[in-house]
Amino acid sequence: MTIPPFKLERYYALYEFKASIMLSSSDCESLSMAEVLDMASPQNLDIWKNLRLGYTETQGSPMLREEIARKYGNIHPDNIMVAAPEELIFIAMQTLLTPGDHVIAMAPAYQSLYEIAASNGCSLSFWHLKPTGNGWTADPNELNSLITPRTRMLVMNFPNNPTGYLPTREQFDAILKIAQKHGILLFIDEMYRLLEYDPADKLPAVCDVYEKGISLAGLSKSMALPGLRIGWLATQQTELMERWLAYKDYTTICNSAPSEILALIALQNQDSIVKRNLEIIRSNIQRVTDVFTRYKHLINWMPPRAGSVAFPQWKGKMSAEELCQQMLERYSVMLVPGSLFDHPGVHFRLGLGRKNFAAGISLLEKLMSECD
Ligand SMILES: Cc1ncc(COP(=O)(O)O)c(C=O)c1O
Repeated sequence: MTIPPFKLERYYALYEFKASIMLSSSDCESLSMAEVLDMASPQNLDIWKNLRLGYTETQGSPMLREEIARKYGNIHPDNIMVAAPEELIFIAMQTLLTPGDHVIAMAPAYQSLYEIAASNGCSLSFWHLKPTGNGWTADPNELNSLITPRTRMLVMNFPNNPTGYLPTREQFDAILKIAQKHGILLFIDEMYRLLEYDPADKLPAVCDVYEKGISLAGLSKSMALPGLRIGWLATQQTELMERWLAYKDYTTICNSAPSEILALIALQNQDSIVKRNLEIIRSNIQRVTDVFTRYKHLINWMPPRAGSVAFPQWKGKMSAEELCQQMLERYSVMLVPGSLFDHPGVHFRLGLGRKNFAAGISLLEKLMSECD
């Protein structure tokens, strides 16, 4: 299998550890080791101190899987496999698809969600999110029109990276109905779930509501712990587990023992971690809304409905690539252009979860003031 470079990740590799301010990053301000250990119950602290650094169970620690299963309504710990989120996308696409299958993926989206399938000889159609004057939308009727007799899987990502799009419950039900009607797999990347700004907008996890649904979730985004490299696949389809485990023997074999315990501690404190992250995001959204309202002639803000990223439209004379390059060269602020998401419009991604967001936005404002 040959696979094209992952554009976003290659761009990050160039600048992530050089730039002073990451104004595009999708993860929330990372928690420190001390912050996580401070949340631990005496029992977990004891496990932590006496932890042996050996190999762990391929499927993931049973204690961790039990804690994860408690977050769902219909999922047994045996129906969960723990690994790094990106690894799980790879394993899922490699094991669930065969060359010649047709896959429909939403766009724009994180590249691996469609690239692995394409590189594996699957044919691909995109269900495009559409920019509106006030955010992003998508039409389930268009999704329906893309279905062919060979369609094997729908690949979605809600809340969406990079747009912050979250379907309404009505749209979600329509997507579910399409998958059910055709009996096709519905893979939803739910890495940004729990970061709904209005709790009423929270959608069910697809693994809970559809027997052919597969949820990808993890600690990297809404839980501010990307360095743990912990995520999971959850599904009611018991028969998939053996295939996933057999494949994982060729990727990482098992997870890091310290990461699994820290993940358990974090999940037992999920509500307070998510609350902290939403507070950071809300305050950053307020700040950026004020600034972008003043610069309406240069930016169409397109506010997200959920998650820790937004994908505003740039209306200035220079290209989005030039804008991002200038921010890097002049202010050491990293922004990523929309072209890294194979998106034809003139957009850039904004990360809303970091504590130094205000400093980055002030520098963007400074640059925009010179574009007037
Ligand atoms: C939608 C989405 N899915 C999966 C991942 C992969 O997560 P991780 O980097 O923790 O492996 C990312 C990371 O940016 C993402 O945005």
